[in-house]
Amino acid sequence: MKLLQDLRAEHDLIDRMLDSFRTAVDQLIQGQAKPKDLLRFVTFFRVIADEFHHAREEEVLFAALVNQLQLPGDRGPIGVMTDDHRKFRVRLNQLEQLIEKRSLSPAEQVQLRTATEQYIDAMQHHIDAENSVLFVEGEICLRDAGIAELASRGLTAREMKVRFTAEELMQRYPPTTNVEILRGDGCPMCPAYQVTCNGYEREWAKVSRWGRAADDDDSSNW
Ligand SMILES: [Fe+2]
Ligand SMILES: [Fe+2]
Repeated sequence: MKLLQDLRAEHDLIDRMLDSFRTAVDQLIQGQAKPKDLLRFVTFFRVIADEFHHAREEEVLFAALVNQLQLPGDRGPIGVMTDDHRKFRVRLNQLEQLIEKRSLSPAEQVQLRTATEQYIDAMQHHIDAENSVLFVEGEICLRDAGIAELASRGLTAREMKVRFTAEELMQRYPPTTNVEILRGDGCPMCPAYQVTCNGYEREWAKVSRWGRAADDDDSSNW
């Protein structure tokens, strides 16, 4: 599905920008980065990650899974991912407020570093969960329902302008990966697993291939 290919490519870009943002925040705290550049990162995450990427996930992909396949939108994988999008918006606003202060006290520097790591960590876990669970299983469910493609939109002129800043920022602030963060595929790697979500096999039991497998088992008993 072209939409999912596009969303995965956007994940790759956002993921690298998150690691680049870590470098920029580190340099800002050491007085080596321009605060204006940090605000350009904030604009990228707001415009490209949220207003373009997350909006299309919610308005196109999640909407199709909820409205056409009757999957739950307020809980399970879709509920968790939608709630994440809202939380990212709040975290990004908090980061912006700290960056805009320009001169940070030692306590505020710690606060900025911590808030940055929390934002990056949460976004990367979210990307992993979508790539390895929601997109994979969602595509199977849609295909089984005869839906091979979902119409979406391209970048607006303003979004395109912001998108072009990414390469320049990543060159200036080479991405730094936090090797201590354990990343991986599947529901058990998602922070929401068994906290607010029971995993897609249970949450999507009626529609997913696992639910059908159970039906098959039932019918074989007759
Ligand atoms: Fe998402
Ligand atoms: Fe995403």
